[in-house]
Amino acid sequence: MMNKKTIHTSSAQETLALAQRCAQLLKGGEIIFLRGPIGAGKTVFVKGVAGALGLKSSPTSASFSLMKRYQNRKNTLFHIDLFRLSEGEVFNLGFEEMLENEKAIILAEWPDPIAQMMPQDRLEMDFVLQGEDKRKITLCAYGPTSQALAEELCKTNNK
Ligand SMILES: Nc1ncnc2c1ncn2[C@@H]1O[C@H](COP(=O)(O)OP(=O)(O)O)[C@@H](O)[C@H]1O
Ligand SMILES: [Mg+2]
Repeated sequence: MMNKKTIHTSSAQETLALAQRCAQLLKGGEIIFLRGPIGAGKTVFVKGVAGALGLKSSPTSASFSLMKRYQNRKNTLFHIDLFRLSEGEVFNLGFEEMLENEKAIILAEWPDPIAQMMPQDRLEMDFVLQGEDKRKITLCAYGPTSQALAEELCKTNNK
């Protein structure tokens, strides 16, 4: 399943607002891969989601810089950033803990090294720089859960 949609934002604030709307749609178990160059706004998006859900950072067994866990009584969110890592380097680093939790929300920047071990049904968000503070965000869903999320996210977006 592949279904491309596009959202434009023209400030970090607008990307935060998009993340907040996304957070309201998450039920747990969603996986979002965030692609795009450095400075595109991937981390802004993750912080917006975690902030909107009111999650607090909590330690994991994996290397702290590669995977951060945010949690409250209702939700668990893993923020992964594998910039410049290869598949061999992320093997055996403690991602099992994350994959065993089927209700966890997973947001991954530079996800390629772990893509093979992740479920197929994920939403890929590709951030494209379009000058100054403008960003084009392409959404591509690879299964029913991510497709429903993409559709709801675009419904509430008028641009
Ligand atoms: N439309 C936009 N969406 C997201 N961030 C933006 C936007 N316009 C400007 N920015 C700025 O770009 C930077 C994005 O940083 P960050 O989210 O860390 O990028 P990445 O994680 O993709 O490397 C931030 O300084 C943010 O304020
Ligand atoms: Mg980042």
